[in-house]
Amino acid sequence: MARNMAHILHILVISLSYSFLFVSSSSQDSQSLYHNSQPTSSKPNLLVLPVQEDASTGLHWANIHKRTPLMQVPLLLDLNGKHLWVTCSQHYSSSTYQAPFCHSTQCSRANTHQCFTCTDSTTTRPGCHNNTCGLLSSNPVTQESGLGELAQDVLAIHSTHGSKLGPMVKVPQFLFSCAPSFLAQKGLPNNVQGALGLGQAPISLQNQLFSHFGLKRQFSVCLSRYSTSNGAILFGDINDPNNNNYIHNSLDVLHDLVYTPLTISKQGEYFIQVNAIRVNKHLVIPTKNPFISPSSTSYHGSGEIGGALITTTHPYTVLSHSIFEVFTQVFANNMPKQAQVKAVGPFGLCYDSRKISGGAPSVDLILDKNDAVWRISSENFMVQAQDGVSCLGFVDGGVHARAGIALGAHHLEENLVVFDLERSRVGFNSNSLKSYGKTCSNLFDLNNP
Ligand SMILES: *[C@@H]1O[C@H](CO)[C@@H](O)[C@H](O)[C@H]1NC(C)=O
Repeated sequence: MARNMAHILHILVISLSYSFLFVSSSSQDSQSLYHNSQPTSSKPNLLVLPVQEDASTGLHWANIHKRTPLMQVPLLLDLNGKHLWVTCSQHYSSSTYQAPFCHSTQCSRANTHQCFTCTDSTTTRPGCHNNTCGLLSSNPVTQESGLGELAQDVLAIHSTHGSKLGPMVKVPQFLFSCAPSFLAQKGLPNNVQGALGLGQAPISLQNQLFSHFGLKRQFSVCLSRYSTSNGAILFGDINDPNNNNYIHNSLDVLHDLVYTPLTISKQGEYFIQVNAIRVNKHLVIPTKNPFISPSSTSYHGSGEIGGALITTTHPYTVLSHSIFEVFTQVFANNMPKQAQVKAVGPFGLCYDSRKISGGAPSVDLILDKNDAVWRISSENFMVQAQDGVSCLGFVDGGVHARAGIALGAHHLEENLVVFDLERSRVGFNSNSLKSYGKTCSNLFDLNNP
């Protein structure tokens, strides 16, 4: 009986995968599907990096496995960072560390043409050699930057095996920056020693993984709201019928993804277009509101386009001052007046939790086409700032905000957000995973094999 059920389920999953394939990826013919199904291939198709929320900063970090022998290095997740940087003046011990000479191919790959001189010390150590390449890294929280040495060493990451987490696979000559230690001293979660950049840049983490393993240029981010459980970043095509085995019990989550065009700024940052924010039935920002155009001239696109930066280095969504003012006003009009209490920083609008049991208005981002809607669940926009005080989780970015809207980590939590670089689009669940009875920590297997 159980065997029969398993068999039926198996057939069901296979037929679902097939039908899904034909719906979503017409470019892949059945021939290549058949070929991909062979379990003999040792090349990984999908890589997994577990990530965790830091309760005190609200930012997310991951343990990266590096060096020889392999050790775990905790790093901040920086969606728009250019490369991986880590402070390595202390406790860096690895038999495979190398610092390429300046003007070498590695340096041109990293797009650095600066020769580095280390005056800190007369003896060489990781991060301190002469005639290597200088690579500027920045702390995305404090905005400080520091020149380090371009380095290469082993990096290891989990592969997947069917629906399970698989063995680790290695990139033997992973390029990163050995940054000065002051860079990690402020703003980062405790013990975090650097940042892993996933921006659009030559040696960002995902680009090195894609080229080393020949993966489809796509990564997906699922951030857990709970610091006690892991979320993950998946590198590779989650819609590949082989890979969606890994998300086997959640094909509906994949199937329901809504896509919106992705724009990449000159600095390699990820933007989507937001035409308006809707609170219940009220449109806050009309399409051509001049406020919504990003303040930066580096933004690719016409000034009319509402560019929303997606970021993981702000815990909450940051609105430029004018958008913030209008939005909080409209939101307040849709909440009971008598429930409002004195605001708790960094928020501007707070409520007595007991007096808002009736719930909050719906908040939707209206994207490029007016039918592409990202509904923000109240768990993603309300924040318990203190005992008994719930605040609207948006922050006033002032008049010089980097972008009209910068969607922060809290906004992305408990949603599967797909950065499809091949097709220049971002996929997301227009409702949070909760509506599927799922969380980022149980969407896929994150337990060590
Ligand atoms: C690098 O060269 C400078 C002189 O240009 C010297 O003072 C320094 O000690 C050298 N550093 C190392 C690590 O050899």
